[in-house]
Amino acid sequence: MAVESTIYLLCLLSLFCGPSRQKAISLELSCGAGPSHVLSIASSSPTDIRLMWQPLSTQHSRGAVTRYRIEYSAMDQDNIYSVEVGGNETQFTLRELQPNQTYRLRIAAGTGIGFGVSSEWAQHQTLANYNQIFAPTELKVRAKVSSLNVTWHPSPNHTVVSGYKLSCQEMESDDTSNGHRPLLMHTIRLRKKARYHILTGLPDHQYEVRVWAFTKQTDGAAAVWKGRTDKTHNRPPLPPSIIQALANSSTSIWLRWEKPRFSNVRIINYTVRCSPFGTTNASLVSYHTSSVQEILLGDLKPFTRYELAVQSNGVDVAGPFSSTVQETTLSDELQLNALYTSSVLVSWRPPLQPNGIITSYTILYSTNMSQPEHTWNNVSQDTITSVEIRGLTSGTQYFFKLGASTEMGPGPYSPVKDVNIPYLDIPTVTGIIVGVCLGL
Ligand SMILES: *[C@@H]1O[C@H](CO)[C@@H](O)[C@H](O)[C@H]1NC(C)=O
Ligand SMILES: *[C@@H]1O[C@H](CO)[C@@H](O)[C@H](O)[C@H]1NC(C)=O
Ligand SMILES: *[C@@H]1O[C@H](CO)[C@@H](O)[C@H](O)[C@H]1NC(C)=O
Ligand SMILES: *[C@@H]1O[C@H](CO)[C@@H](O)[C@H](O)[C@H]1NC(C)=O
Ligand SMILES: *[C@@H]1O[C@H](CO)[C@@H](O)[C@H](O)[C@H]1NC(C)=O
Ligand SMILES: *[C@@H]1O[C@H](CO)[C@@H](O)[C@H](O)[C@H]1NC(C)=O
Ligand SMILES: *[C@@H]1O[C@H](CO)[C@@H](O)[C@H](O)[C@H]1NC(C)=O
Ligand SMILES: *[C@@H]1O[C@H](CO)[C@@H](O)[C@H](O)[C@H]1NC(C)=O
Ligand SMILES: *[C@@H]1O[C@H](CO)[C@@H](O)[C@H](O)[C@H]1NC(C)=O
Repeated sequence: MAVESTIYLLCLLSLFCGPSRQKAISLELSCGAGPSHVLSIASSSPTDIRLMWQPLSTQHSRGAVTRYRIEYSAMDQDNIYSVEVGGNETQFTLRELQPNQTYRLRIAAGTGIGFGVSSEWAQHQTLANYNQIFAPTELKVRAKVSSLNVTWHPSPNHTVVSGYKLSCQEMESDDTSNGHRPLLMHTIRLRKKARYHILTGLPDHQYEVRVWAFTKQTDGAAAVWKGRTDKTHNRPPLPPSIIQALANSSTSIWLRWEKPRFSNVRIINYTVRCSPFGTTNASLVSYHTSSVQEILLGDLKPFTRYELAVQSNGVDVAGPFSSTVQETTLSDELQLNALYTSSVLVSWRPPLQPNGIITSYTILYSTNMSQPEHTWNNVSQDTITSVEIRGLTSGTQYFFKLGASTEMGPGPYSPVKDVNIPYLDIPTVTGIIVGVCLGL
């Protein structure tokens, strides 16, 4: 009869319900035509599973149940463990299990002569956490050249947490140049007040950063970031696209430019390259740095054409030079000497480094500096560097400027200079006439 009673316990342990891991999963112990015996499986911590069943009545067991045998194993493992409990028991807690792990379990009842056939396997997953500690929010990582600045907002469970942990795992990459270098892995414990942590000394690589809160009992869920250290600061910035040069004097040129558009690389300063047009002599090339978008280049030669280019400098890296712009310094200043009451001797020095051979000079003069240039009197000269302008009005202020032309075309005019023509002095004129007469 004992055999019969064990056969009676060839029950099917089948999954009945329980969509939520937090709730007990109910299983039905259905025993052929006999009454059902509800068995529940639940976890109150990530490392335990509690089974509960209803005692079989002597009538149903047809013999005294002296013990129960519970068998269990992790789903992905072959090892099956078993425990036996007394026949008077109706519940048992399996301990020291793996969190967040699916187990299969079955139960068999035994009488004095042995165990019956076990129930079918039931499945149950242990809790991932004791009491879910939520992940920190707003995990952000600012990637720099060899560092990551990891910032986060506290876990919603901040009041119960003891602190934060951060791990940084170097990811596998296809880049075979790394050879078989072991992958880096850090895990760092941080104080509860910590809101950021800077990971430094990281080679340029792909990383996975995790941040999670922990309590005395457990670790919370992690916020995860995947990315790589930054290369952008190593990228050279683009050169300025718009560059304007304007001669400021016979020895200086203003150079102004605009920041390159469509560039996300931070520019620290600019380098300006300045050289006489067409020079092949490196010692004539000069470099100047500016942290603003303009520079007044000085110590230049008068009436000389210069080539200018601008380069943007980022952190630790210089970009390429822009295309060149050209500008010619102004001519040397004019010398104006009023000779008599109606003429002026205009003289000048030829440019030291002309932009080609001078073909002509142009002298413009006017009594009104505000008049447009084309209305000024225009005297053209070939390569002689002085000229006497006659027929001027005595007692009048005149304005002069000088330009030079080469086969390349006309250069800019010099700054304006002025001269006052003396008043006509009748006695002096008479004296000259007298003198002339005397000399005859
Ligand atoms: C079952 O019997 C054992 C041994 O007599 C006893 O120690 C235990 O407390 C009993 N359990 C229950 C639930 O009565
Ligand atoms: C639990 O395990 C599943 C896979 O079985 C995994 O996707 C999940 O991230 C794990 N949860 C925790 C909190 O580790
Ligand atoms: C990292 O980020 C935090 C928060 O934004 C900031 O206070 C800190 O200065 C940053 N450190 C560095 C080195 O960028
Ligand atoms: C953590 O916070 C979530 C959401 O506020 C809550 O559901 C959960 O029970 C909290 N866990 C603990 C251990 O307080
Ligand atoms: C040269 O630059 C100075 C300073 O900006 C300015 O005052 C002066 O007018 C400029 N001269 C010319 C000819 O542009
Ligand atoms: C280059 O310029 C320097 C400075 O003006 C001068 O001393 C040198 O002789 C020049 N070299 C050549 C090859 O022209
Ligand atoms: C320009 O920036 C670079 C960094 O790119 C720095 O080394 C250099 O000292 C700066 N020069 C000036 C004149 O500020
Ligand atoms: C100089 O020229 C300007 C512009 O043509 C004119 O407005 C002004 O009256 C002139 N001045 C004299 C003193 O003629
Ligand atoms: C002055 O005359 C020269 C030669 O005829 C000419 O090239 C130049 O354009 C003239 N300049 C003005 C301002 O009229």
